[in-house]
Amino acid sequence: MTHVVATINLKGGVGKTTTTAALAETLSGEFGQRVLLIDLDPQTNLTIMMIGEQRWGELDAAGRTLAALFEDALGDRPGPVDVSTLIQRQVSPLSSVTSVDLLPSSLRLIALQDRVTDITHGHTEVLTRALKPVLADYDYVLIDCPPNLGAMTLNGLRLADAYIIPTIPDVMSTYGIGPVQERIRQFAEEWGTSIVELGVVVTKYRKASAVHRTTVDDLNRNKQISMVFPSLIPEANQIAAAAEFADFGTLRKKYGNDGQFTALRDLAQDFIATTKVRLAWV
Ligand SMILES: Nc1ncnc2c1ncn2[C@@H]1O[C@H](COP(=O)(O)OP(=O)(O)OP(=O)(O)O)[C@@H](O)[C@H]1O
Ligand SMILES: [Mg+2]
Repeated sequence: MTHVVATINLKGGVGKTTTTAALAETLSGEFGQRVLLIDLDPQTNLTIMMIGEQRWGELDAAGRTLAALFEDALGDRPGPVDVSTLIQRQVSPLSSVTSVDLLPSSLRLIALQDRVTDITHGHTEVLTRALKPVLADYDYVLIDCPPNLGAMTLNGLRLADAYIIPTIPDVMSTYGIGPVQERIRQFAEEWGTSIVELGVVVTKYRKASAVHRTTVDDLNRNKQISMVFPSLIPEANQIAAAAEFADFGTLRKKYGNDGQFTALRDLAQDFIATTKVRLAWV
């Protein structure tokens, strides 16, 4: 059974990409799960974290990124594109993480997203149609969305069974949660599907900050939120430094042995348990 989960928040810089990458590596390295990462963000942050700038540059120049699927749908390419030729295998720079694949992103998506509505047959379904043949190869497909509800994000949501909302526990970062939930509810209704809210993931948590502590309490009391994952991801230099494309050795060394790795492992464990219960029908 494959679970497709989008990472979304309209607020930028809240740790969506960092959390998605760490979750994928932990699901694979600690729990033996087969994970496909889809980078929908033209900023290409997740792609570069996973395969480095050089390999990404080569793939982009050869047209072997997510952009090819949209170029295909727009009739820009001579022949059909098989998504399995675009997926990069075993991408994590950590040698201990062997079951994370990646569908890489491209800066070309910036220009393409303005043309996506020209696709006459289901412009939000390009990703879903392309991915169908490979989904069963994975336990989890994690979709890193850009901080907007543009054409790329809609393609991601169309494919998703569920979503998580990473947020820094401060006033500005949590404002966006309600509107995201509401828009996703509307899209799901329009499409006649269900997109389950798994919950909020607290990122960049500083326990010395009174605002952070109060906001976490408020989130936990908020009845409009299905759940706040109990594992709070701390703000830590080592988590920020983990964005570098390098083999740090182990997950513990990469993310930090001062509670960071444990927080990520707990998050991954809760994530597995939650998807099992909430997505049992998928
Ligand atoms: N737990 C953390 N501790 C310290 N720094 C972090 C943590 N999580 C993310 N960061 C840093 O915060 C910045 C933003 O993180 P990230 O790119 O993951 O956010 P994002 O929500 O994906 O941003 P965008 O909206 O631009 O896609 C990056 O510099 C990243 O290294
Ligand atoms: Mg991001």
